[in-house]
Amino acid sequence: MYWILVAWFTFVLWLSARAEHVRADRHTFTSVAVPDSGLTYVKNSGICETTPGVGQMSGYINVTENASIWFWFFEARSSPETAPLTLWLNGGPGCSAMIGLFQENGPCTVNPDRRTTTLNPYSWNTISNMIYIDQPVGAGFSTGTGPVDSTDDAAKMMWTAFQILFESPEFSAFAGRDLIFATESYGAHFGPTFITYFNAQNALIESGDLAGQKIVFTSLMINDGKHDPLIQYASYISFAADAPGYGPLQSESVIGAMSDAFYKEAGCRAQLEDCYAAGTKRASDNALCAAANDLCNQDIFHPAIRGYDSSDLRQMSNSTSPFPPTYYISFLNLDSVRAAIGATSEYDQCSNAVQAGFDFMGEFGRSALPPLAALADAHFPILIWVGDADIKANWLGVHEAMVSMSWYGNLTLNNTALTNWTIDGTPVASIKTVDSFTFSRVFGGGHNLPAFVPGTALQFFSRVTGRAIPSSAASAACASCAPFASSAPSPAPSAPAATSATASSARSIPRPWAWALLWIFFAVI
Ligand SMILES: *[C@@H]1O[C@H](CO)[C@@H](O)[C@H](O)[C@H]1NC(C)=O
Ligand SMILES: *[C@@H]1O[C@H](CO)[C@@H](O)[C@H](O)[C@H]1NC(C)=O
Ligand SMILES: *[C@@H]1O[C@H](CO)[C@@H](O)[C@H](O)[C@H]1NC(C)=O
Ligand SMILES: *[C@@H]1O[C@H](CO)[C@@H](O)[C@H](O)[C@H]1NC(C)=O
Ligand SMILES: *[C@@H]1O[C@H](CO)[C@@H](O)[C@H](O)[C@H]1NC(C)=O
Ligand SMILES: *[C@@H]1O[C@H](CO)[C@@H](O)[C@H](O)[C@H]1NC(C)=O
Repeated sequence: MYWILVAWFTFVLWLSARAEHVRADRHTFTSVAVPDSGLTYVKNSGICETTPGVGQMSGYINVTENASIWFWFFEARSSPETAPLTLWLNGGPGCSAMIGLFQENGPCTVNPDRRTTTLNPYSWNTISNMIYIDQPVGAGFSTGTGPVDSTDDAAKMMWTAFQILFESPEFSAFAGRDLIFATESYGAHFGPTFITYFNAQNALIESGDLAGQKIVFTSLMINDGKHDPLIQYASYISFAADAPGYGPLQSESVIGAMSDAFYKEAGCRAQLEDCYAAGTKRASDNALCAAANDLCNQDIFHPAIRGYDSSDLRQMSNSTSPFPPTYYISFLNLDSVRAAIGATSEYDQCSNAVQAGFDFMGEFGRSALPPLAALADAHFPILIWVGDADIKANWLGVHEAMVSMSWYGNLTLNNTALTNWTIDGTPVASIKTVDSFTFSRVFGGGHNLPAFVPGTALQFFSRVTGRAIPSSAASAACASCAPFASSAPSPAPSAPAATSATASSARSIPRPWAWALLWIFFAVI
């Protein structure tokens, strides 16, 4: 009899200890600097980043009482106390940064069972602290209302979010550390505009005209950017006619029709030029810019991609298993996962409402080049990199945008040849650099670049951050310097050694319940 009681007692203690171990801690932080704002978050949920000793936090930056911005932070796997902080944003607009986290450069990928994860040895938190943010409100897990339909408004909300973050004890240590802005696709609008806005706020703080903390971004990396509609719609014609390294995508008659539609009177080019000429008289010209973009999409983009996956010309649009897979969406909608990470809403990877709002404001017809050009002109460190299998932000168009924009290095960039970057005997990309500005065509990359060439992407990230890849990670990373087949339809990297963590492992026996069992035990004896 006695040993049964001892076993029972031990079991209850074990449950209690285990619950303590896996229980996600919930925290709140109330901002003093920004009224009615704060953080609500969970520490060390055990989801995704399962490397022992590597911390994480996930939750909301409640920017106003009605706007909650979702963030997920991962400590660097090595030297987190000196490593930089990197912000990752996806594009859309309205697409969630969880795309980047789970498909591109985060600590794990989700397995086909949609319940378990595998550690990603090429994760960018190998060398940097990482924060993934769903913005603007309406994107991913971010909820609420507020101005969500222009890049300028998104910049303001993000600045407030960073004021709250950096005021909190969890993030205040990052003040003064290198802060890298990494983004892709429509992020070509977010990155330059946000940094420019932050810099303007920093100047006001410096001069005493604004109370707040300076938030100083130290470099910008944009892969597969949507920088400039006029230049990039034109690029679909040349890319579809002959995608370098891959060949023609469409017939000569289709290319001819695209070209006519682009250059004809009142065609795509003329309408975009009208939108550009409208300049900053924004409100009255939103409809003009939206209509120009719609026409160009119809007449130029759709014919260029017909039959193909616009993110990767090696895949067909009717593929039943496109890469990268989207298992992570089901994973994030598991109640157990959402409870563990502290998410309060259903997950959707891109918000149609946000996209429609930006479209209505004419944002898709406008160029994102002026603020990027100004940063380049000021020698701000910039990496512009593009996967050479991406059609929708193809590298010919992005390159043309970089040599055409107004900055001191445009002619030099134009007249500098791309040279191969070879890692362990394999050319992974071609590159050219003018001072702190680098352009690269990345071999074998699709639109969500790091998903296709994760090891190469980590090497680029290492260049930008100036942080060496630790040798343990480097040997894994070099698996991805493996040959890329220029025509292979299956760009998936070979699976790294599996370290699985089940979603259900995050489910825990709540501590009160364990204590109740103990209490019953004592009551019984
Ligand atoms: C912050 O926002 C989240 C999501 O909307 C909500 O669950 C939480 O209660 C909010 N926190 C505070 C302190 O208001
Ligand atoms: C939040 O929403 C409520 C109800 O719509 C509104 O009355 C209030 O002004 C909003 N607050 C802010 C800060 O936008
Ligand atoms: C996809 O389309 C191509 C050509 O348009 C066709 O040959 C192929 O059978 C289709 N595949 C599927 C899975 O429908
Ligand atoms: C290059 O930038 C300069 C400003 O530095 C600008 O005047 C010029 O038009 C740009 N060149 C091209 C080809 O756009
Ligand atoms: C840019 O480079 C291309 C090809 O290398 C060359 O034909 C063109 O003249 C250059 N443009 C300028 C403005 O130098
Ligand atoms: C650069 O690498 C690519 C891909 O392997 C190759 O096709 C090309 O010939 C190389 N260029 C040079 C100049 O070596």
